[in-house]
Amino acid sequence: MDTYLKTTHDVYKQAAVKPEIGLCCTSTPVWQLPGLNMPNKMLEMNYGCGSTVNPRDLANNPTVLYVGVGGGMEMFQFAYFSRKKNAVIGIDVVEEMLDVCWENLKEAEKMNGWFEKDFVNLRKGDALNLPVEDASVDVAAQNCLFNIFKHNELETALKETYRVLKPHGRLVLSDPICETRMNEQLCNDERLRAQCLTGAIPLKEYVKMITNIGFGTVEIRAKRPYRILDPKHYPTDEMIYIESVEICAIKDPMPKDGPCVFTGKTAIYFGEEEHFDDKKGHVLYPNQPMAVCDKTGGALASLEREDLFISESTWFYDGGGCC
Ligand SMILES: C[S@@+](CC[C@H](N)C(=O)[O-])C[C@H]1O[C@@H](n2cnc3c(N)ncnc32)[C@H](O)[C@@H]1O
Repeated sequence: MDTYLKTTHDVYKQAAVKPEIGLCCTSTPVWQLPGLNMPNKMLEMNYGCGSTVNPRDLANNPTVLYVGVGGGMEMFQFAYFSRKKNAVIGIDVVEEMLDVCWENLKEAEKMNGWFEKDFVNLRKGDALNLPVEDASVDVAAQNCLFNIFKHNELETALKETYRVLKPHGRLVLSDPICETRMNEQLCNDERLRAQCLTGAIPLKEYVKMITNIGFGTVEIRAKRPYRILDPKHYPTDEMIYIESVEICAIKDPMPKDGPCVFTGKTAIYFGEEEHFDDKKGHVLYPNQPMAVCDKTGGALASLEREDLFISESTWFYDGGGCC
């Protein structure tokens, strides 16, 4: 095992034994749902940097796989929607984390009449070799784990989630990203990497890795400020700004002309005609915004029409649109 994976194991063993408030997480408000009472310890062990739980992904009683369980908060939130035995499978490589997570779920059962701890099926296992059958889950989620992995392991982890997803299944993830390349010292600092601070890569690179594996549709759902690494506190000459991102990658077939990546662009037609038809399947009505993937946005912009507006990426996409 590479030493940084061993260090990661040790960091999370420690974080299981003694909850470390603020490790990884942002101050993003935690999902509040009617009738969902979260044990305090679960909240203290929120080691994520955004949310992977979105009702839009959870219609039709999906089976959810959650990789890197932490205190169990998001699995508990997923169970809120599925409410059946074993509907949420939780995988973690750290025994101590699985134990604490199970205790938290037991506490949650006491506090919530609708919840049974057996809604969640915890298994010891590695994100790099998931103990899960091929094409068996509808939604795979990970929050603040994959960013820790170096390139080869990240590729393996993404391939593993792709393998276990059913066709059209969804990988929902939340992770830090960084447009500034981390220097060698930061990259190789095993503790900082394990703490989700120095493994972050640029968003485009992350998305490319996801689409290279075969995910035909990618949605960038949110992007927000995460951390600053400054020269006073970290081995860097420049200030490094880290963001966190929420992505949904869908195991759709790869379109012939490449993946559909939604980054929150919108097209608006404001001409004199009843509608504008690009003859490629996109019909726009006057002043009715249409979400477009970057591919369609680029094609429409290349027409250089004066009556067609294409917005910049807003990094907020919540469904619908061109593809
Ligand atoms: C930053 S925490 C995130 C926890 C949780 N997802 C959350 O949002 O609170 C990373 C989690 O991944 C687990 N982990 C670390 N390496 C792993 C691996 N190779 N495979 C599976 N889980 C791993 C840790 O034990 C820890 O529970």
